[in-house]
Formats: sequence, structure tokens, C-alpha cells
Amino acid sequence: MEKQFKRTLITTALPYANGPVHIGHLAGVYIPADIYARYLRLKGEEVLMIGGSDEHGVPITLRAKKENVTPQDIVDRYHFLIKKSFEDFGITFDIYSRTTSPTHYQTASEFFRILYDKGVFIEKTSEQYYDEKSGQFLADRYIMGVCPHCGNDQAYGDQCEACGTSLSPTDLIRPKSMISGSIPIMKETKHWYLPLDKYEPFLRKWILEDHTEWKSNVYGQCKSWLDMGLQPRAVSRDLDWGIPVPVEHAEGKVLYVWFDAPIGYISNTKELLPDSWETWWKDPETRMLHFIGKDNIVFHCIVFPTMLMADGTYNLPENVPANEFLNLEGDKISTTRNRAVWLHEYLEEIPGKQDVLRYVLTANAPETKDNDFTWKDFQARNNNELVAILGNFVNRALVLTEKYFGGKVPAASGLTDYDRQTLHDFIHVKRDLERLLDTFHFRDAQKEAMNLARIGNKYLADTEPWKLAKTDMPRVATIIHIALQITANLAIAFEPFLPFSMAKLNRMLNVEPLGWDRLGLTGLLEAGHQLGKTELLFEKIEDPVIEAQVQKLQETKKANEKANNQTKPIRETVAFDDFGKLDIRVGTVLACEKVAGADKLLQFLIDDGLEQRTIISGIAPFYDPETLTGKQVCFIANLAPRKLKGIVSQGMILSAEDTDGKLVVITPEKFIRAGSEVK
Ligand code: MF3
Ligand code: ZN
Repeated sequence: MEKQFKRTLITTALPYANGPVHIGHLAGVYIPADIYARYLRLKGEEVLMIGGSDEHGVPITLRAKKENVTPQDIVDRYHFLIKKSFEDFGITFDIYSRTTSPTHYQTASEFFRILYDKGVFIEKTSEQYYDEKSGQFLADRYIMGVCPHCGNDQAYGDQCEACGTSLSPTDLIRPKSMISGSIPIMKETKHWYLPLDKYEPFLRKWILEDHTEWKSNVYGQCKSWLDMGLQPRAVSRDLDWGIPVPVEHAEGKVLYVWFDAPIGYISNTKELLPDSWETWWKDPETRMLHFIGKDNIVFHCIVFPTMLMADGTYNLPENVPANEFLNLEGDKISTTRNRAVWLHEYLEEIPGKQDVLRYVLTANAPETKDNDFTWKDFQARNNNELVAILGNFVNRALVLTEKYFGGKVPAASGLTDYDRQTLHDFIHVKRDLERLLDTFHFRDAQKEAMNLARIGNKYLADTEPWKLAKTDMPRVATIIHIALQITANLAIAFEPFLPFSMAKLNRMLNVEPLGWDRLGLTGLLEAGHQLGKTELLFEKIEDPVIEAQVQKLQETKKANEKANNQTKPIRETVAFDDFGKLDIRVGTVLACEKVAGADKLLQFLIDDGLEQRTIISGIAPFYDPETLTGKQVCFIANLAPRKLKGIVSQGMILSAEDTDGKLVVITPEKFIRAGSEVK
């Protein structure tokens, strides 16, 4: 017998507030969760959908370091941007809060303290890398060195991004602190560990025997973790950003981000419902579901359940419908490389098309394997499915009603066999949709809803009511009546998927949103009901829109390649004598002007101590030539002359290139006699 539940608690992974959210977030977690929540609400069920920003951990502190601002600045900036993006895309959170909220600090501290007081944790001292210069222990991501597998000299303490191997900091050859650049030492530090191994027998039974219905990617990952054997896991870190470990003599120690973040689901429920939150977490008649991406599986299926179990008063999740990853035009989406379609930018550049993106991301959702988002597919699905099937059918049904019946629903009379067959076809839609939605098959569910529109299109194409208007109005009335019932059914079936468009359709039909229980019925719009004003549901997306997006992505790629060139390892060692062959001198700029017909080039007249020489340099985009006159520069004096734009350049002015390609001229620190050698 399947267990019966009274209500459903939906949690959605808390995104790190270290950047905006992108299509991968939507496709993997928030759209499926939102479809499911909307579906349950339409059915009149009691449901809560919890969200929020994950504001602790190294991803936040790294971003802050990079920008030279505080972690608080970073999370304040991105929390509100993320929250707004979700609102704009119609993700219906009951609450979207953050892990820096006072409620969360208190809830997470108490949670730790209860486990601590019960003696759940193991206290253990171990040696970890410590940066003496900056006086702090180094998180894995703060250590860089040479990958022992592929030789990449920019591998992180937890992973080499060149070869994909996961590492631990002690694997790195020549480790270096990313904070001070110094070589870290090993130093003892104490931490608290959650003994996952003790819970392993329970977890094995709970997942591997009692939850064989979980998605195969989720079940498979759990099984391989369990088969490898679980180890105690540290739940604290040496870091100055996070929730302080709430015990004595724990200065400088904070809760590990993966300990506090999932507790955020509890904190946010508490913030929303201070008096009844426990019903949602502890009543066995509440069903809990975690919507997440695949990199979060172990934390939601093994670590967090162990924490909940160790407390002993909480429910465990019933299901964890995790998705795989979405790629973008054949390559990984990456926040740090700025390789993504950011939601706030999408809305600026392609305004008003939230539902189109929702539709495409669901049609292409990485439910069982990684999938690829391409702009061509985006355009094709909009033009060939939303416009040509759904939009076209609805438009025809409504326009015909207006034309022949003044926008009033006509009465049906004398159904033909073909009419009956059509009605019969779409009655199945409800059952099929429910079966698919109940098992988290959102792609197929959306396809099924689209089939309803296909049935409608075929029905109108076969019956051709526009040809009967002169001869058989009662027949036209019957056909339009049926087409309108299909339209009303579409408004229900698509509500979870395309909420903006279906709200519009309801206005066009002049009805309040219809409940899920009406789906599959034929009497949704009664004869005589006056429809509202007809508008277009979807419009074609033309090539230039798509091309602009592809172009934008290519530019990001170019910028990344450029940045990568900059951070390339130091070149091969050269003999000292080779260096001596270069004659580098200081010269005084006597005159400097733009080279006609070349927007990158400046022409210098240089006093080199012996005579005057002309040098051409490609720094025009970065300098106003007048500001350089009178300055001193360094130049290579014995470089073979080269002709540029018809001018002979006698040497090369030295400049440094920034990661964004910006050039800065090298000048001596003090004024010095022209012709002085640089050595
Ligand atoms: N911030 C994590 C990530 O983006 C997800 C945290 S989910 C939670 O991968 F359970 F910890 F909240
Ligand atoms: Zn490697």
C-alpha cells in the first residue's frame, strides 16, 4: 500500500549567492519544482515551496577576495538579484530567504548544539594546510598547485579543472596559498565530525531497499557511495565567514557550509510559519521532497538525512528528484568563466518571453542525462511548437468564435462519430498527465499537454468549419463548441508549465483559473458564455535575435581565451647570455601622435641618448598621445627594424598587458638619463 500524505513540503536547493542565476539553475531545479508545486496547488493540495540563497562557504569568500569587497557585500548584491530573477520567471516560492538571516543563525546553531549535547559528533585533531603569512587555515579552494595527474599548475586543492580529477590538498605538488602566495605549512586543527559510518546500515536499508522508486541517477549515486563505505565527515571549518561553532573554545571555527545550508530549509519554513513550521517538518503525514541538481545528491540523500536522524524528531525526505546538468551550446555552463545565459540578461534582451524559456528548458530538461541548450533549438521550439501548434490552435478557435458567434460560446448539437472520437482522445490526457507528473517526468508531461493542442489542430483541419459557414451553421457551432472545450482544457493542462501565457488565455476566455479536477471534461465553457478579447499567445522569434545570442557567447569565449593566455605558466627557462643579447634602454618621448589610417598605432619620436629614432607601438586604444610626450619609456633598442603602415619602426616600446587586453607602458620609477640600459 502506498503511504498517504496530507501535505507536501517542497525544498529547492539554495543557490550560492556568488553570482546571478542562469538557465542551468532553472532547468535543473526551479522549473521542475515549480511545475510540481503548481500542479499540486491546482489539485487543491496543501503545499509549501521553500527557497533561499546559500550565503556561506568558500564560493562567496573567493568572489569577495577577487573583487576586493566583503563577503557581506557579495551576498547582498546577488541575493536580491537572484530573488528577483526567480520572481520574474514565475517561480512560486512561499518564501525565498537567506542563510545570513537571524532566524537561520539561531536555527543552525541550535541544530548543531542539540547534536553536540547528544554526543553525536566525534572531535578530532588533524593536520591541515596553514598560511603563516595571512595567519589562517586554507580551505581546499584556497590552495593551488601542480596536478599530480596531468601537470596542470593551476589545480585547486579539491579538483583539477584541466583533467577533472578530484584531489585533496595534500595531493598537490608545490602547493601555494592563493591568499598570500606563500607556501603553506601543515598545522594541527580540531574539528567536529558527523559519523556517517554509524548510520550506514540504516541508510542502506532506507535507500536501497525502501526507496527503489527513486530516479535511477539518484539511486545509482547513493548506491555507489554506500558501497564505497561511509566515513565520518567534518562539519566545521577554519574560516572567518559563516556561523560560529556554538561551543566553547571554538574561536575561528564556523559550521561547514554544507552543514548549515540544508538547515536553511528549516529556518526558512520557520521564518514563514513561526507557529506551525513543525507540522511541515515533523508530522509523519507531511511528505518532503528535495529538488536539486546532481552535484548535491550525496548531501541530500546521505548527509542531511543523517543530521535529521541524529536529531531524531524530523521526517526524512520521501523523494529526491535530482536532475543532471544542462550544457550550453556544447560546453559547460560556468559562473566563474561567465559562460551562461543569465536570467536577468535574458529578460532584458528578449523581454516578455519567460514562458518560452520555461517551455524550452522543460522540453530539454536534463532529467536522466546531461543535455544541451542551443539557441537554434530554442527558436525552433518556439516557432514550430508554441507558435505553430499551441498558439495557432487557440487563435483559430477564438477568432472563429468571434467571427461567427460574436465571441459567444455556441451550443453543440448532434455529435458525429468523429466528434466523439476527438472528445474521447482528450479525456485520457488527465490520467496520462497525472501519471507523468506524479513520477516527476516533466518533459513527457509537457509533451502530453502539447498533444492536446495537436488533437485540437487536427480536429479543426479535418472539420474545416470555415467552409461550412454558408451552408451549415449548426454544424459550425458544434465544431467551435468542441474546439473551445479543448482550449479551456489547454488552459488547465499548461498552467503548471506556462503560467504567464495561461493567465493570458484565461483572460481571453473570460474565466477564472479552472481547477485541475475539471481537466478532461467537456462542459468547461457553457453555451452563451461571452469570451474576452483575443490576443496572440506566442510570436515568432526571428533569426537576428538568435544570432545576437550566439554572437554574445562567442565573445565570452574569446574573452576567456584571452584571460587564459594571460595566466599561462611562465615560459621555458633561457640562458643568461640569451637575455644579454637584448639591448633594452630608457628613452625620452620627444613627440607622439596617431598613425593615420591605423586606429591601434601610435608613432613615437624617441631620444635614445645618441640620436632620435622612430618607434611604432600598438597602444593607441589606451593612451591619449599628448599625455605621453615628455615621459620616459623602456624600449628594445636592437630589434631588427620593421615597416608598419609605411613607417620604419626602429625598436619596440615595452608595455604590460592586463587580463582584459589593456596595455600599460613601462616607465622608469625616476627620471634617468636617456639611453640608460635596462638590465
Ligand atoms: N549552494 C549549493 C549549490 O549551489 C546548494 C545548497 S542546497 C542546500 O550547489 F541544501 F544546502 F541548501
Ligand atoms: Zn589534472
